[in-house]
Formats: sequence, C-alpha cells, structure tokens
Amino acid sequence: MPEPIHQVTFQPDNITVDVYRHGENLLRVAMAAGVHINASCGGNGTCGKCKIIIDKGKVESEHSEKLSDEQWQQGYRLACRTQVIDDLTITIPPESRIDNSALKRKTGGQRHILKARDLNTLVQGLSINPAVFKCYLELPPPTADDNMSDLGRLMREIKKSYKYDRISTDFHLLQRLSQVLRQADWKVTVTLVYNPKGFKLIDLEPGDTSKDNYSIIIDVGTTTVKGQLLNLEECRIAHSNTTDTDSENLCAEDARYNSQVGFGEDVISRIVHSQKKGGLEALQQAVVADINEIIAHLLESAGIRNDQISHLVLAGNTTMTQLLLGIDPKYIREDPYVPTANFFPPVRALEIGINLPDYIHIYTFPLVSSYVGGDIVAGVLGSGIFQRDELTLFIDVGTNGEIVLGNCDWLVCTSCSAGPAFEGGGVKNGMRASQGAIEQVRINPETFEPMVITIGNQKPLGICGSGLIDAAAEFLLTGIIEPNGKFDRTLKTSRVREGDNGWEFVLVSAEQAAEGIGDIVLTEGDIDNLIRTKGAIYAGCRILLESVGLSFNDLDRVIIAGGFGQFINLERAIFIGLLPELSTDKFMFVGNGALLGARLVSFSREMMKDAQRVSDMMTNIELANNMKFMDEYVAALFLPHTDTNAFPGVMKMLEGNN
Ligand code: FES
Repeated sequence: MPEPIHQVTFQPDNITVDVYRHGENLLRVAMAAGVHINASCGGNGTCGKCKIIIDKGKVESEHSEKLSDEQWQQGYRLACRTQVIDDLTITIPPESRIDNSALKRKTGGQRHILKARDLNTLVQGLSINPAVFKCYLELPPPTADDNMSDLGRLMREIKKSYKYDRISTDFHLLQRLSQVLRQADWKVTVTLVYNPKGFKLIDLEPGDTSKDNYSIIIDVGTTTVKGQLLNLEECRIAHSNTTDTDSENLCAEDARYNSQVGFGEDVISRIVHSQKKGGLEALQQAVVADINEIIAHLLESAGIRNDQISHLVLAGNTTMTQLLLGIDPKYIREDPYVPTANFFPPVRALEIGINLPDYIHIYTFPLVSSYVGGDIVAGVLGSGIFQRDELTLFIDVGTNGEIVLGNCDWLVCTSCSAGPAFEGGGVKNGMRASQGAIEQVRINPETFEPMVITIGNQKPLGICGSGLIDAAAEFLLTGIIEPNGKFDRTLKTSRVREGDNGWEFVLVSAEQAAEGIGDIVLTEGDIDNLIRTKGAIYAGCRILLESVGLSFNDLDRVIIAGGFGQFINLERAIFIGLLPELSTDKFMFVGNGALLGARLVSFSREMMKDAQRVSDMMTNIELANNMKFMDEYVAALFLPHTDTNAFPGVMKMLEGNN
C-alpha cells in the first residue's frame, strides 16, 4: 500500500481522507471519501455547483466566471477545477450540499492497478530476450581463398559472433542478399526471429541498425482494437540497469472501435455476417483497416518508420482471430463449437493486408476453444496464474465474460455471453470509457441529487461501464430501485420519471450535458441489461468453482482484467453482485490482459513457449445448454443476488440504510 501524500478534511462533517497523488482533483477526492458535493456537469467547470471554501492549506485552482471576485478572495473555489498540493481543510458551503446531509458512508478504497513496472511481481523469472532481435555484423569480403557463398558467409559470422545455430532463411531475403552486403561494404544488421525449432533470418539492413528494434502489439477486441508500440532495445537496457521492465519501452498507444461493429455488435452476429456473400472479406478488411490506422498513428506519434518495426503480436478472441486471418468462423457457433485450429502458424503481415514490411510475421496467441481465445491465454500468461500455487480466479470482462480458475498445476476456463452493457452497448446513453463518459456517480440519499464525474472532466456525453455499476449501486443504496431493478415510482423526485422508453432516472439534464446530447438517463431497460450481464458473470464463476468442487471462500486471489476493470470501483461491483463478497485484499486489477501477455511475448521467447503451455493446460467447460448454469444465472438476476447469505456485508449496508 503506498504512503499517503496529503490529507484533506471536509467540514462540517469532519471527514478526513488520505490522498495518494500530488495534484489530485479535489472533486475526485471528495467522491472517494463519500462526501457529497453537487456536481452535475461531470467536473467540467460549467455548472458552477461544486463550490467549496479552502480554510487551510494551498491548492492549485483555475479562476472561474462561476465565482465572483469577492468569493475568490474569501477562498471559494470550484472543487472540480482544484488540485490538491497540500494538506487541506475544506468547508462545503450549504449551497453545494443542498441540505447539509453529506453522505457519511465510507466508500471508495484502494485498488491495486498494475503498471508495466509491476510485471515482475506478477510473472516470475522473466528474462528479457525478445523473440525477434537484431545483430550487427562486420563480414570479411570474399577472396580467392575464402570464396564461400554470401549466405554461408553471413551464417558463419552469426554463429561465430553470437553462437546462434540452426538458422533458416526467408526466401525473399535471398533475392536481395548479395546486393545489400556489397552496398553496405559487408557491414550489416540482421534480424532473427526465434521459433521452437531454431532461428529464422528474416531481414538484412545496411549498417548498424541494432538499436532500431520495435514491436507492435494489438488487442483485437470485439468492440475495440487497441495497440501499443514497444521499444524492445530500451526494454533490454532498462532490464539490465534496473531489473525492472519499466514503461520506458512503451513508445505510443492507440485505440479505436472495431469497424466490424457495423456488421453486428457481438461475435455471433459477425459469424452470421461472414456466411453472406463477400461477408468474410468485408469483416477481415474492416479490422485490417483499423489495425493499419492504429499502426500509422503509433508510428507517427513515436516518430518511427515502419521499417524499424520487427515484430507484430496479436491477441484476440477466437472469432476475432479467425476473421482477421480470413479463416471461415462458421463452425465456432455450431454444436459442438470447434475452432479451425488452436494455433495458427506465423503469417506475413502483408499477406493479410497489414501495412508493414514483407519480412514481418504475425504472432497470434494460441486459442483454447471457440469461446476462450488468445486474449484470455495472454491474460493468464501476463498475470502469472500458471506459475503460482495460490488458487486464482481470473475474470476478463469485455463484450463477453471469460473466466479462468486454477493455479500452477491446473486451469479450467469458461465463457459466458455477458453482453456489451459494460462497453456501452444496449444502454440508452451508454458509451465506451472515453472522454466525457460518466465514470463515477454518487446520489444524495435525501434529495436524490446526483454527483457525477466524467473521464477527462469533460461535459457529460453518456455513461460507461464503471459509471453504470456506480449508478446501479447508488440506486440500490438510496432506494431508487428495488432489488429486482425496478424504479420506486413513489419517490418524491422529478428525476424518476416515465420516459419514451419506460421508467428512467435523469442523471444529467440536457443543459449540463454536452451539446446536442439531451438528458442523460438510465432506464429500467438499461438496469435490466446490467443485471443480466452481472448475473451471467457471477453464475459463470460459480459454475466453474463447482465443477472442481470448490467455492468462492477457497479462493486466494481474484484477478480482474479488461479495460473496464481498470475503472470500476470494487466495493460497488461487489455491492451489485457482479463480484463475490470476499475480502478486498484478495482482488487485483491488471488492466488489459491481452496487451499484458502480448508485451511479455514481445520481450521474452520463454514467454512465447509458456503461452503455448498455458493454452494446453486450460480445460474448457462449455456453458451452452448447461442447465446448472441456467439455474445459477436466474438466481443471480437480482441485486445483489437471491442468495443473500452470499452477500452478508451488502445486506447489512442495505438494512442500515432502510
Ligand atoms: Fe464543478 Fe460542475 S462546475 S462539477
């Protein structure tokens, strides 16, 4: 646990909270402390409702037209435009509290979000030796006494200087080998790629370019495609200096929606589309275009040429992997649900339309089954479960929910159709976790006035997965909804109303939302979607545990992966029954598991071998047509759950609020 840097005390309720980051936003600090300050523009500085008074301590704050000069002199500031740089005592004036009834319940709490530098804490014995690497060579020119072929001469020097053996050569390289050697005056850099059978010579460049060794890793998600550009040489330097894979090697990152969304939101509708005339080609071209855009953006933002890239690593679910490679996914959705292969041999990036030099081959993560793909193998690899004794539950929440249970001796896995609610799908004002998305919500239990914070403190555009979980938990806690997800129609607030899509709660009025958005509401249909999603994930976890005769209480650790996992509030996720009620110390967030594993495979050829071992270890349990799963699922369609004994702490909080 890090040491707090500052402390902030909120008056008049005398609530003190530790702050762990110098310059933290004051409105976020208040929210983490469970202190209610009116905030209806998401922290954008435009509603002027979050006024506070600085009694003691220094802050950094923007002057705002929402404050008069007189107020500024008196110490008034907008909480959302104020950074904590000192220990503070703050007073929340009555107009910012509505009725002086600040929420006193303790919320928030510490989450452990792993950064790249923590990789060594997750994965043991990580040695840095990229699978694709470069060697600089100075060759003696041929003479009458030494007239070995050009390729033989090159191989001899590689073996002599670097002791590498069993080297094969890419045929395309031979077509230009003699010219490059002579033009470069026999001073060249070779690029070699490791494979379990030895090494392959894939490129030859004039001069010493051994420092130009970059890898691109891509998470091909059903909803979003994310990429990172890594400097493999920096990684080697960083590792030897600090024994740490710090973030020096991350040169750029980019993400965009998977354009296949236009053909259907989930994998099933994409498979259906792939069976239409020209459908498979259209789907492949759509995602290849996204990857090309991401690569272009990564190169541009890092100032790197595409011939400085040596390696491309892709991790995706089974359908995404097959569609990207142009392999018909038809049988993935037909009983008994089998993919074409569990491992795809390296394919030239150029061959499937990716704009990279012709010597670059794609490494795709091995798959387990039709619905547990390479992204999950990458996540299990990256989080080191396969190396530890402790019993771990790994949950990756994306458009689907994939769950893995096990340790260094065994791994079982399953996939449940969670639905895209956490990625903004099927939710009226839902959106991906990007700028302007409402990510945190608190509701005053007396007035039902919401306090919302958006990503980037922008004017609210919609609500993302973490905001949805937060809102549902607040609705339940304040009695706005019943445990079955229906709004209490008798509440005395105009925020609960009957709209075009049935009953809804107005989170942000049109005046406070971004232009043209209108009122941002959560409907009963949205809450239903959320309940179905969380019900499927919780039921999937329970079935997996039962399949090996265990229960939640046997778990040593729960690892949450997936982009959305980075932003959710753990207590809130437990509160609505998405996650089991266990000690919060057992939970760990690792962010994007696919990229975590892809990173390791870029850095280490041992990890590439381990990826195959992990995929071989994982036993898949199919939930389709599983009656026990259906029973568990129906039981979980309640907030937090029909089995209230499984959530004693939540029930106590709910009873305390009634
Ligand atoms: Fe701060 Fe609106 S001005 S939340």
